[in-house]
Amino acid sequence: MRRLDGRVAIVTGAARGIGRAIAQRLAAEGAAVVVADVDDAGAEVSSMIERNGGRAAFAPTDVTRDEHVRRMVDEALERFGRLDVLVNNAGIGTFVPFAELTPDLWDRIHSVNLRAVYRCAQVALPALVSRRGVILNVASQSGLVGQAMNEAYCASKGGVVLLTRSLARELGPRGVRVNCVAPGWIGGPNVETFIEMDAAGRNVSTEVVRGEIEGRIPLGLIPPQDDIANTVVFFASPWARVVTGQTLDVNGGEWIG
Ligand code: NAI
Repeated sequence: MRRLDGRVAIVTGAARGIGRAIAQRLAAEGAAVVVADVDDAGAEVSSMIERNGGRAAFAPTDVTRDEHVRRMVDEALERFGRLDVLVNNAGIGTFVPFAELTPDLWDRIHSVNLRAVYRCAQVALPALVSRRGVILNVASQSGLVGQAMNEAYCASKGGVVLLTRSLARELGPRGVRVNCVAPGWIGGPNVETFIEMDAAGRNVSTEVVRGEIEGRIPLGLIPPQDDIANTVVFFASPWARVVTGQTLDVNGGEWIG
């Protein structure tokens, strides 16, 4: 018996990166997964899950658009009959000096990172209540400690943490748990791009930059995406049945307390 046999999950932003790792891991634990993303590469993720013996469907979704969010939830209900787990993973961000942060960029980052978390949760709520389901939000260590040149992103992710706590208080009595994962540095293309840019900007090798990052992490490694996915499985499973309103840092111990 796998941990999520018989469950149905939606993962937003699942066409690549952490979202893809979460979708694949949930499927490997037995969940049927709706892979939701603006990027059509989500179809390949869905096919890959099916080729590996899992159940999945791709729902082309811009999480900032209400009609898409409704269609995404309908896809879960029509294809798989219910919804047990909503993973709000889709997120965007870009480093820009505060003086150059435009209202449009602020709004765009907030609409994907924060507003969409509220809307996806709200639209999915009736289905989740009927299954005593789970909402899992992906925030960021940056949203807990703040970061220069990343104000809009950090503010939006800090908002996700407080939205998680507030929803947990309100929805607990209705049987729905709401938790949050806060990744730090996570292995993958985004970190590689940062390392390359930083190395080029300072005229040092990428090994130097990587070594500096790893040196700040007590466990000494940049956590792979699968480690975020494992945390999501824990929160989604009955093992976490009395855990709600929590934000778990998954960062190799880079930031403690
Ligand atoms: P990524 O950029 O590799 O993937 C994000 C996915 O979200 C993409 O497939 C993209 O198409 C999708 N997406 C973007 N806007 C969307 C929209 N409007 N509607 C639907 N899908 C949309 O990102 P990554 O690195 O996998 O990050 C995933 C989550 O983890 C994000 O919320 C990010 O903020 C968070 N995070 C990532 C960290 C990292 O080191 N990679 C660290 C801390 C947090």
